Amino acid sequence: MIRIKNQSDFDNYTKLAKENPEAFWKEATKEFVWKKPWSKLQSGDFNDLDIKWFEDAELNITENCLDRHLKNNANKTAIIYEPNNPHEDPQQITYKQLHENVCKTANMFKDLGIKKGDVICFYMGMVPELLYGVLASARMGAIHSVVFGGFSSKALAERINDCQAKLLVTNDGSNRGNKTIALKQVANDALENTTCVKHLLVHKRTNEEFDKHELDQDWDKLFSKASSDFPAVTMKAEDPLFILYTSGSTGKPKGLMHTTAGYMTYAQYSFDNVFQMQDDSDVFWCTADIGWITGHTYFSYGPLLSGVTQVMFEGVPTWPDGGRFWEVVDKHKVSHFYTAPTAIRALEALDIELVNKHNLSSLKVLGSVGEPINEEAWQWYNKNIGKNNCPIVDTWWQTETGGIMISPLAHITEMKPCYAINPLPGIEPALVDTEGKILEANDVEGNLIIKKPWPGMARTVYGDPERYKSTYFSTYPGFYFTGDGAKRDEKGNYRIIGRVDDVINVSGHRIGTAEVENAINEHESVVESAVVGFPHEIKGQGIYAYVICTSEIKDKDKFKKQITDLVSDEIGRFAKPEKIQIVSGLPKTRSGKIMRRILRKVAEKQTDQLGDTSTLLNPEVVEEIIQGAQ
Ligand code: PRX
Repeated sequence: MIRIKNQSDFDNYTKLAKENPEAFWKEATKEFVWKKPWSKLQSGDFNDLDIKWFEDAELNITENCLDRHLKNNANKTAIIYEPNNPHEDPQQITYKQLHENVCKTANMFKDLGIKKGDVICFYMGMVPELLYGVLASARMGAIHSVVFGGFSSKALAERINDCQAKLLVTNDGSNRGNKTIALKQVANDALENTTCVKHLLVHKRTNEEFDKHELDQDWDKLFSKASSDFPAVTMKAEDPLFILYTSGSTGKPKGLMHTTAGYMTYAQYSFDNVFQMQDDSDVFWCTADIGWITGHTYFSYGPLLSGVTQVMFEGVPTWPDGGRFWEVVDKHKVSHFYTAPTAIRALEALDIELVNKHNLSSLKVLGSVGEPINEEAWQWYNKNIGKNNCPIVDTWWQTETGGIMISPLAHITEMKPCYAINPLPGIEPALVDTEGKILEANDVEGNLIIKKPWPGMARTVYGDPERYKSTYFSTYPGFYFTGDGAKRDEKGNYRIIGRVDDVINVSGHRIGTAEVENAINEHESVVESAVVGFPHEIKGQGIYAYVICTSEIKDKDKFKKQITDLVSDEIGRFAKPEKIQIVSGLPKTRSGKIMRRILRKVAEKQTDQLGDTSTLLNPEVVEEIIQGAQ
């Protein structure tokens, strides 16, 4: 395995990865358990898009996450489960127990008729059974598609239908602070709009009453009968491992498909080198939900591949009070803590006593992911949580990239607030101008592209290779386009600025403007809408909707509530617009395209930077929009 220890290692590995990728990835993969080792490193490129890594290898990722640790570390704690309610006892799950539970779960899925290549959809809270399910899916060669528990029944149904999932696994409900979310009800509703699901497997967590469905199966009943012997199914390197949906600039979510050997390699390589967990007593805690890519790579796979101990947290950062994260760090002696800027900003706004009353001296490394971290939040995190003594790894990556691409390496790279700093060895990013010309110099700003394939990249959009091509490889032919803008400082350090496409990042959740617009347009009084992001103190960005109506709306509050309900219904509560402005028109070019730049500037309250509006089809609406801005 590659374990970079200092700057000179970093320089050497960067060179090796460039000049002799075979040797580099050979080293990165040498400790894995292969059923058949690879002999061919990579084929395909950004033109043919037939990208394959370690193609002739055979393996099962769970043998690498679980079985290979059993010899020496069977009784090491893999998971410390911290429930939502601080009065409920945490659970310690050893590697041996995790292995056993995963095997039992795989047998249970098998008994329900699941076979290699079938898709299993998970719609659950953060309970250990979700992890068992995901790993069981991988062990039996099924494909998992985890849908975040905040999505609505329509969004869930859309995702189930897109990948034709055969099994849906849910909880009765999930505990979120002082609330419970009725997941089973949402799953029942989703099944009204699907025909592919054969069973609805329900794991009881909240023990609240729920409506039965004819497809219901009871997790506890089946699990208690299942055998704990399940030999890992042999997978080819490029067999699909999972699908994860994310928003893009058109209405339909994209199911990014990741495959087995490349994803595994990149998950462990990036985990080891970015976080640098060195002591056996170190405890990792990634606060992300498994419903997002961070919860896949740096909870379900990366840390287990490395055989470390990690926390799984069911709850929310602000309940019973805003000190919950710090209480958990203290209680479980967390050494490596990985969270999102939106959480940091929310906690930063609270009484500092909530931090100071907990002992955070176990912390060694802090991480940030999901959106640009603003300087103030970075400084607060550094001073109050890291006590100016823990490196902060600001990790840039995406659902599509599978793992961290640009980031400091803890204790190795010099930090610069808000900078993701360097690509990992093996990754070759560049900045391009709008014509696609590579900007070679430093101290520049441009669009972020990646020049060459890497093992962890998504191989396609499930069922829609054309969309994969047009979204990522057609803007700048020959390169992977990230959709992000970035700066490079005079020393070559990268700073990610944010999306340059029609994607809004609300609390680290990617939301496509078109999805929200489609939902708003369902309202009978809406003629057209346009959605943009606006700067939000806690969430990073909030959603601002401009709406044209068929007639004058008398009760505006009622109308706005109907709009937000519609968005909650179609997508989920987290995508609700915070600002809704009724307008008589939207600024359009002569070809009828909405000039979102103008709407964005108004939402950002930068009306002095509107630029030339005289070429618009309807310049007069701009003034009206400015006057009515919120
Ligand atoms: O805009 C970038 C932002 O999050 C986007 C990817 O979102 P998603 O696929 O949901 O994955 C999030 C977790 C990896 C990126 O295109 N982003 C992610 N990390 C950072 C970031 N923006 C700035 N700094 C980061 N560290």
